[in-house]
Amino acid sequence: MADQVRIGFIGCGGNARGHMATLSKMEDVKLVALCDVKPELAKSACEQFGAEPYTNHKEMLERKDLDAIYISIPVFAHGEPELDTIKRGLPFFVEKPVAINMEIAEKVLSAVEKNKIITCVGYQLRYAGSVDATKEVLKGKTITMVNGKYWCNSGVGGPSFWLRQMSKSGGQLVEQATHTVDMMRCLAGEIKEVFAYQENRVLKDIDCPDVNVVAMKFESGAIGSLTTSWSYEGDWDNANVLDILFNNSLLKWTYGDFTVKPAPEKLPEKGPSQSIDRVFIDAVKSGDDSQIRSPYRDAIKTLAATLAMNKSGQSGKPEAC
Ligand SMILES: NC(=O)c1ccc[n+]([C@@H]2O[C@H](COP(=O)([O-])OP(=O)(O)OC[C@H]3O[C@@H](n4cnc5c(N)ncnc54)[C@H](O)[C@@H]3O)[C@@H](O)[C@H]2O)c1
Repeated sequence: MADQVRIGFIGCGGNARGHMATLSKMEDVKLVALCDVKPELAKSACEQFGAEPYTNHKEMLERKDLDAIYISIPVFAHGEPELDTIKRGLPFFVEKPVAINMEIAEKVLSAVEKNKIITCVGYQLRYAGSVDATKEVLKGKTITMVNGKYWCNSGVGGPSFWLRQMSKSGGQLVEQATHTVDMMRCLAGEIKEVFAYQENRVLKDIDCPDVNVVAMKFESGAIGSLTTSWSYEGDWDNANVLDILFNNSLLKWTYGDFTVKPAPEKLPEKGPSQSIDRVFIDAVKSGDDSQIRSPYRDAIKTLAATLAMNKSGQSGKPEAC
């Protein structure tokens, strides 16, 4: 590998631009090729970051000077970009959720494992400084209940934006509250069964529910709930928050902090938060992926849980994850 890790992007939309900005500040990284099916987006990203634009990822992947790929595309578009990247033998960072259905996700996983590809999925909350300290508090304890919340507005985009179409995004549970579900799994273990109520009460020009209530059973025997809404115009204080009851105590977790009540004599200290991009680049450089907290194999379990929630909303029955 050259002195700099040479990166190609598949997708140059809003999320990709954030990663590009972070990576462009790293001395040991160079953005060499940026691809978007919308030529104007590939061009403007390349003007900003000094790379070569493409509109077809297959053409981009023919370049010899690529060390790793970022895939940041709409949920429905996953599958081919990953499989082509794997065929080319390159490590990849892919945004959450990893696919629109389990069939695509499992096909990609099987190719990842067969070809021993380093992967990192964009569950950046796992790298928060509060995570390890929270795990330390919960170690050896009996978790009784986990309640997660993701209440916010429905975001940008007009009626035709992919996010507002269930068949293209999977709705809020699959596309966005996937972060909350992923943190529930990260801190409280695997979810085995879910039951969901879903309604669209006030949002127009969208075919997704704007409120979701999910009950869940964890493999540990704990039970939990998740409430999400896209029809709340307040601040973001109610997004990605977890209440975890264990033994006779309550741990409140957010990205930035955690508290425990009643206060224990000694609380583990929060560590520094890590940049998910830095962790991925270091794994590419060293070939050691042990610091990646969300490899593809793990991330598809979060997808499975959120898809089961949507299935339950439709079937009116509990569904296995
Ligand atoms: N980790 C996070 O916190 C976070 C935050 C925001 C978005 N995301 C995720 O990032 C992904 C992208 O979201 P976004 O908000 O940037 O969407 P976006 O619509 O702004 O950008 C996606 C881009 O991908 C392009 N695209 C689609 N198919 C392509 C293909 N085959 N080849 C090349 N380009 C292609 C589209 O033209 C579009 O420009 C989604 O999965 C979303 O869930 C993650």
